[in-house]
Amino acid sequence: MKHKILVTGGTGYIGSHTIIELIRDGRFEPVAVDNCSRSTANTINRIKKITGVQVPLYKVDICDKEAFFKVFEEEKNICGVIHFAAFKSVPESMHEPLMYYRNNLNSLENVLDACAQYHVPNFIFSSSCSIYGEVPKLPVSESTPVGQAFCPYAHTKQIGEEIIRYFAAIHPEMNNVILRYFNPVGADMSGLNGELSPDKPNNLMPIIMQAGIGRIDKMTVFGTDYDTKDGSCIRDYIHVSDIARAHICALLYAIEHRGANNCDVFNLGSGNGVSVLEMIHAFEEVTGIKLNYELGGRREGDIPAIYSNSAKAAEKLHWSCQHDIRDMVTSAWKWEQELAKERKAEK
Ligand code: WQD
Repeated sequence: MKHKILVTGGTGYIGSHTIIELIRDGRFEPVAVDNCSRSTANTINRIKKITGVQVPLYKVDICDKEAFFKVFEEEKNICGVIHFAAFKSVPESMHEPLMYYRNNLNSLENVLDACAQYHVPNFIFSSSCSIYGEVPKLPVSESTPVGQAFCPYAHTKQIGEEIIRYFAAIHPEMNNVILRYFNPVGADMSGLNGELSPDKPNNLMPIIMQAGIGRIDKMTVFGTDYDTKDGSCIRDYIHVSDIARAHICALLYAIEHRGANNCDVFNLGSGNGVSVLEMIHAFEEVTGIKLNYELGGRREGDIPAIYSNSAKAAEKLHWSCQHDIRDMVTSAWKWEQELAKERKAEK
């Protein structure tokens, strides 16, 4: 009997890659819930093309409690919920704070409410390294104090974690795991599923890919005067499939009641700090393409450097990264070329 897992945000970037890994693992039966406001239902077809499995999709707004609860009436014996569905753009959250608080917190409250009401024993929460804010010491471990949130997006993740802690305290029957992602990048190694960025993405990897394939003329390195190895910002990039597989490890940790308490938190990072310039050079080396970029000023809200100590996840979740920077760039580039092929076919 496979464990039925409800994946909110299941047609999104990390959600869809997690569904693919749940299927590949063989012990799980994923069900997707997503209103597709920031993704497309066609991702279900991409998942089928990769895995051969037609995953059920409930096109529902999780903030619509009545509609969302209907999914739990339909889908019996749900073993766990993985909650990805949230808005996650740092700059957008600065311009639309109330939209972020409303969407990210109301959806979380409805998910927890449903888990309690329909006796779902395991809950996995998609959190973020952005909750640490600017950190005094690197690498960042789970015991690093949570800092001042630098944007409403990060603040919704901080508040979300607190909500889960208080919820877990009155629901000893549930096992809750909070996963703090560093910088997820790349695509499924098949190149047939990846990040569907908006036309003007904010994040580094999709922008490098768009500059590489010529969708944008050039990209800008935001700041080369930081106190880092080459003056550009340092981040802990991690392959999206490694992040996806960590959710399986977290589910098993919860299902097998391996936690000392019923609410645990883990960093998910590679532990390697990579600079913007290093990522650009990795792209050039992997693809043989000279990237057109300029050196520009700092971007508001950026912190100079952050990377993780993910030893706790390695020890407790028996999880480790399988993919290096080369795989991240290779898979992202393969996906960008797949998208270009699809765009050409649509013309
Ligand atoms: C990385 C670096 C930019 C674009 C992300 C997510 C956030 C959270 C944490 C999950 C920065 C530089 C970028 C460009 C550049 N993830 N850059 N030129 O800011 O670390 O935040 O990870 O919750 O949701 O947004 O990632 O990819 O935006 O930037 O120089 O054109 O690349 O300045 O130093 P960031 P990013």
